[in-house]
Amino acid sequence: MNNLKNKQILLGITGGIAAYKSADLVRRLIEQDAEVQVVMTETATKFISTLTLEALSGKSVYVVHDAMAHIDLARWADMVLIAPATANFLANLTYGHANDLLSTLCLATAAPIGIAPAMNQQMWHAAITQENCQKLQQRGVTIFGPAIGSQACGDVGAGRMLESVDLVDALQLFFQPKVLKAKKILITAGPTREHIDPVRFISNRSSGKMGYAIAEAASAAGADVTLISGPVCLSPPAGIETISINSAQDMYEAVMAHIKNTYFFISTAAVSDYRPIEQAKQKIKKTATTLQINLEPTPDILASVSKLEKPPFTVGFAAETNNLVEYAKKKLAAKKLDMIAANQVGIEGLGFDSEENALSIFWKDGGLELARANKKILARQLIEVITERFNS
Ligand code: C5P
Repeated sequence: MNNLKNKQILLGITGGIAAYKSADLVRRLIEQDAEVQVVMTETATKFISTLTLEALSGKSVYVVHDAMAHIDLARWADMVLIAPATANFLANLTYGHANDLLSTLCLATAAPIGIAPAMNQQMWHAAITQENCQKLQQRGVTIFGPAIGSQACGDVGAGRMLESVDLVDALQLFFQPKVLKAKKILITAGPTREHIDPVRFISNRSSGKMGYAIAEAASAAGADVTLISGPVCLSPPAGIETISINSAQDMYEAVMAHIKNTYFFISTAAVSDYRPIEQAKQKIKKTATTLQINLEPTPDILASVSKLEKPPFTVGFAAETNNLVEYAKKKLAAKKLDMIAANQVGIEGLGFDSEENALSIFWKDGGLELARANKKILARQLIEVITERFNS
């Protein structure tokens, strides 16, 4: 589902160098079938022309007050998004100043306000900026970003405006219908590591991206999400309780400790199926020409959950290099799952460690295909399918 379709976004642009990114943001929002009305501060017009934004949004750009513009615009908006938001504008918003059209309509609107800060890293870390952001968040303002990276001034750090593609993703999540409000969901993600000795382990290529995207989509749908994650290079998603584990045994214990009262268990983790029977206490030295490591199966977490007396709605994943449909359907039955999402691995750019995926979903008497797409889009679609199946 495209959550931005027909949404009326009032895009406020304030005077920072990141204003150039707003042109791309307008284009991407329009691509998602949103309506965009741009309002700029005087300073913003020095960084990017009103003409550019008018051409992209298809609407006249407002800069100065004219009669009732602030009230009409404030009422029109489904969301007021300030991107980029300068430190000065953040302060204006915090203290309720109404010294130009944009700050006035922020006071006059009942629509949710989102801000995408953009400023030098020192200014972002300044105590007063942080205090302003906290106050704004307490009043219900959503803060998107900022991103960390190199800055126009030559510094490196936090304070870059989120890239427009990431902002659009964040808005999609913001407008996600709250169909899972207060429902407890447990999600596993990433690989596990099964140690051979203190420095070596058996693992796999899972990046955790699919599981993290599902956790974000579920949380955006109002769920109370706990994410149990193997070692990945991703930051814990904001607002989601994230528990880091290493081995399949750790993951099993963490899942069992959190499974009570869970509505859905979504097992995206690529859990190692085997582990060394014994872990060497010291690093194994290179002595022989061959080395044998004896393995034993790890606990099957998913099967253990579906065997519980009162199991949650259980969703498994199946990553296969061949016979995708056959293996997935077998797993659905063998592990007594409510649903399985299967994906082909071993194809460049799809599945493990990539941004995109494609899923074949099966349940007892049906199924559907989710076509190749970015994992964030697929995650939102999957949450919809799971919710629909659960409700039916
Ligand atoms: O049996 P297989 O590993 O192919 O099954 C994949 C599904 O089972 C995934 O959802 C995975 O998270 C889960 N699994 C598990 N515990 C294991 C192995 C797999 O929960 N030990």
